[in-house]
Amino acid sequence: MHQEGPPGEVDLVQLDRDHPGFRDPVYRARRNHIARIALEHRSGQPVPDAPYTEAEHAVWSTVWQTLGPLHRAHVVSDLVDLQDRLGLQRDRIPQLSALNPRLFAASGFRMEPVAGLVAARTFLVRLGQGVFLSTQYVRHHSRPFYTPEPDVLHELIGHAASLMHPGVAAVNQAMGRAAGVATEAEVARLSRVYWYTVEFGLALEAGQLRAVGAGLLSSCGELARIHDGPELRDFDPDAMGATPYDPTDYQPWLYVAPSLDAMLNGVTRWVEEGRWRDGVAPPVTEGAGPLC
Ligand SMILES: [Fe+2]
Repeated sequence: MHQEGPPGEVDLVQLDRDHPGFRDPVYRARRNHIARIALEHRSGQPVPDAPYTEAEHAVWSTVWQTLGPLHRAHVVSDLVDLQDRLGLQRDRIPQLSALNPRLFAASGFRMEPVAGLVAARTFLVRLGQGVFLSTQYVRHHSRPFYTPEPDVLHELIGHAASLMHPGVAAVNQAMGRAAGVATEAEVARLSRVYWYTVEFGLALEAGQLRAVGAGLLSSCGELARIHDGPELRDFDPDAMGATPYDPTDYQPWLYVAPSLDAMLNGVTRWVEEGRWRDGVAPPVTEGAGPLC
């Protein structure tokens, strides 16, 4: 609210000085416009379209040109197939309103706009209501392979198609229901398990390491390094719940499930058995990080 913007307009969005769009008044004006869409949106109402520029559509297309082959090589096949079922076009950024009917028909989820990162509890509780809070803005066109914050490329390339999978939808719903009655420490455990599975989970498929998490699917850099970058740990929700995460850098360790179904069933069971509860899990000293 205290950043300079076009005359007469209040800045809704704060960009750090090292953000690629910090010195671009056109970009900042559009970020404000897109943030206003989210702030003025009422849940359950149709989601207004975001006004993407040709430069932003070009970012989407450029990223897909690199991610497409990476997905075919490194992402679990069920999730790649769902991208086609959702109709995720590669040349234009889809609007949330265009994807929601197919998403809702498949799993009961819909995507609603949010201005930026939100508290873990807010994000998770909305999942329990069948709502996935999604940013609509696009990273700055000068750096198509870099974003300091989750943007619509992360939401749509990473999450949208996966949410059509019944097992992924079940994990999201279970997490959301739990967050609605959780203490702060319990939300921290839930958000960590969410992070290491829905956001950055890995699974074996026919003996090969494959990406599941949205943070991997939407990042050329993270996806290209899964085999030789992070320390690979065995799938263990109790251990994940006790392990903080850093959303600002490449992930130093990731957890590998024996299969996609083993991951999804394992997380849902972990939630439903209440192993995130205070008194059941080890004490947590750090709060939950943001989720998006
Ligand atoms: Fe995400």
